[in-house]
Amino acid sequence: MSEGPVAEPGALTRTGAESRGSNEGGRKKVTAPAVASRKRSRGDDPIVMVTAYDTPFARVVDEAGVDVILVGDSVADNVLGLEHTLEVGIEQMAHHVAAVARARPRALVVADLPWMSYHVDAADALRNAAVLVRAGAEAVKLEGGRRRIPVVQAILDAEIPVMGHIGLTPQSVHAMGGLRVQARDAAAAEALWLDAKALAAVGCFAVVLEGVPDAVAEVVTGAVDVPTVGIGAGRSCDGQVLVLHDVLGLSSRPSPRFARRYADLAGAARAAVSSYASDVRAGTFPSESESYHASDELRRFLDERLR
Ligand code: KIV
Repeated sequence: MSEGPVAEPGALTRTGAESRGSNEGGRKKVTAPAVASRKRSRGDDPIVMVTAYDTPFARVVDEAGVDVILVGDSVADNVLGLEHTLEVGIEQMAHHVAAVARARPRALVVADLPWMSYHVDAADALRNAAVLVRAGAEAVKLEGGRRRIPVVQAILDAEIPVMGHIGLTPQSVHAMGGLRVQARDAAAAEALWLDAKALAAVGCFAVVLEGVPDAVAEVVTGAVDVPTVGIGAGRSCDGQVLVLHDVLGLSSRPSPRFARRYADLAGAARAAVSSYASDVRAGTFPSESESYHASDELRRFLDERLR
């Protein structure tokens, strides 16, 4: 587990928005139960969730005040230069979870169970969830609805909080015939609604809704007691999640329409490194003040004996 700060002893006796982990102005550790009780319909603030895959960015997003850090399997294409999330395994995920946990964030650290780490059987899924928890995750996320219930139950039985993820589930890219918006017709919308209700009923503390029409997300959000966290699911969800590299303009692929870019860090980084390269080539880096200097005695020795 993360060695980050834990909820204060009085946390269980807190009431109202405070016990629901609203955190305004405070630095209280965000926990899965605190996230579970946050619903906009009850007047709570939207949940802010973003991915991070390493210690420096985990620090940055935590200092920015996000509620949840997702160590997503999107590490594959955003950090590791891989084509698809299907290419990452449990050991790679654990490596990145540990890096994020070392930032000791106040935000809740949720880790993605990668493809095939929870598809064989419940025992295998539980072993893999434990690998992520031992690396520092405080909850795991997995993709799929009703057919995942036995696996979710097994992980919950081991006291590991589980976040569901339905709609456009990237690990099902081949079965879906591509990364395309889901729940576009009545039958699929009803299936999504049933999936969300089943995940909430079994005990998931939150459910990600990805790539679904906004009206569907609105109805699903109203149908479950736990928060929904949307990505490409409109404005009605109880929270929003984005991939950090899309937010910062660091993504190498074209960003989807829902991924608002708030900075051009790739541009800023390119400009900084090209200034450094120009300075090295012009002989203006390093300067006198950026160098260590020999004592007079050492300089005399260098001049008289070694030069
Ligand atoms: O891996 C990821 O980044 C995700 C989010 C897109 C929800 O699962």
